[in-house]
Amino acid sequence: MISRRDLKIAMFIMIIFLITGIICYASFTPPEPEKPVRMMFQTKAGKVLFTHSVHADDYADDCQNCHHDLDNDETYNCSDCHEETGDEDLPSRADAFHTQCKGCHEDLGSGPVECNSCHSL
Ligand code: HEC
Ligand code: HEC
Ligand code: HEC
Ligand code: HEC
Repeated sequence: MISRRDLKIAMFIMIIFLITGIICYASFTPPEPEKPVRMMFQTKAGKVLFTHSVHADDYADDCQNCHHDLDNDETYNCSDCHEETGDEDLPSRADAFHTQCKGCHEDLGSGPVECNSCHSL
């Protein structure tokens, strides 16, 4: 026979486990997504090879340098916001890339800025 008292203790322990579980679950931020190593963009002007992991690890301070709108949306995909045609409030995908990629290369004084040094393949 299980006594009432044992039952109460068992309930108590279960509740503690439940609360611990909830706290653990809530206190871990979701893991950062696996970042791509390199990507190849196909364009009309020729392919562009982008060394994503080298850029993220060595050339930028953090992900938000490029994924600038992560606070509003959890997407890492520029095209989810920057579509093929843009307007003055929201640049097109190609304009967004040219501004961001070239802009940083110009600011840092290193990295390609000529058309065919990016569109090299
Ligand atoms: C120098 C700029 C830059 C930095 C820094 C950067 N990324 Fe990216 N990342 C990009 C670009 C550009 C793409 C391609 C997005 C697209 O094709 O729309 C991309 C794509 C991604 C993708 C794939 C998205 C998809 O849907 O295909 C993930 C995931 C990602 N980045 C994660 C990260 C993480 C995590 C960090 C920080 C550790 C980071 N990135 C830092 C520029 C950058
Ligand atoms: C969740 C939506 C969203 C995502 C994803 C996003 N952007 Fe943007 N982006 C915006 C909005 C909105 C603006 C216009 C307002 C502003 O400047 O913040 C903008 C503006 C820009 C500008 C112009 C900034 C200026 O000062 O003129 C560039 C460049 C840019 N984005 C590049 C990128 C690149 C490259 C990516 C992917 C690595 C990206 N964006 C992902 C929403 C997004
Ligand atoms: C946060 C600043 C920053 C941004 C944003 C950035 N770059 Fe770079 N990029 C660099 C630096 C710094 C170098 C290194 C130059 C060197 O060491 O000679 C570089 C080098 C390169 C190179 C030469 C080969 C290599 O991988 O080192 C290519 C190609 C390139 N970038 C393409 C891009 C493209 C395409 C984008 C946009 C999707 C982009 N970059 C965005 C900083 C940036
Ligand atoms: C820093 C690297 C870089 C430089 C410099 C650069 N581009 Fe790009 N270009 C890109 C990237 C990245 C994309 C976007 C690829 C995508 O949308 O997937 C792109 C896209 C394009 C597109 C495709 C637009 C579309 O709608 O299909 C054209 C055309 C283009 N670039 C022409 C040029 C010309 C012309 C120059 C010189 C004036 C130039 N690019 C300089 C990286 C660069």
